[in-house]
Amino acid sequence: MSDSRVVVLVGPMGVGKTTLGKKLATALDLPFFDTDALVVRSHGEIKTIFENLGEEVFRKFEEDAVLHAISSPAVVATGGGAILSQLTRQRLHHCTVVYLETDGKHVKSRLKGGKRPLVQNGFEDWIRIYEDRKAIYEEVADITIDTSNQTLSATLTELKEKLEPK
Ligand code: S3P
Repeated sequence: MSDSRVVVLVGPMGVGKTTLGKKLATALDLPFFDTDALVVRSHGEIKTIFENLGEEVFRKFEEDAVLHAISSPAVVATGGGAILSQLTRQRLHHCTVVYLETDGKHVKSRLKGGKRPLVQNGFEDWIRIYEDRKAIYEEVADITIDTSNQTLSATLTELKEKLEPK
């Protein structure tokens, strides 16, 4: 049975999970968690974790962050790869999972800054990783929203409408 009060945003890097999540949390009057931020708070910068400890250790930290974030009513923005964990996917069963889909057009500019270790070669990496994960996003989603051709505020409105009947 999914809990409509735990809303989890999934989707590729740079799609806008954090920005949208914060706005949704305010609109629903729920706390907001960003699992990347939780990992950084406990373990330091993501790039440094990847460099010093490797991706596998990062994924373990991320699993713990997701578990913490979904343990009570909240809006949760996950890192793009959080759904790679089978344990996390099982744990998401009680949540309302929202997949933010995109054609990538608006993502390119958001990938700048070099904070994401998996897209060091930019958009090319992003496309490959997204293609590899699309089926998983689709599998875990209760609600899918195509963010490609609409503003953030239109996406927020669509999402609130889709959440209401639950
Ligand atoms: C990752 C996405 C990032 C962050 C890390 C790995 C991924 O989060 O967790 O760099 O594997 O897709 P965002 O989706 O918030 O960029």
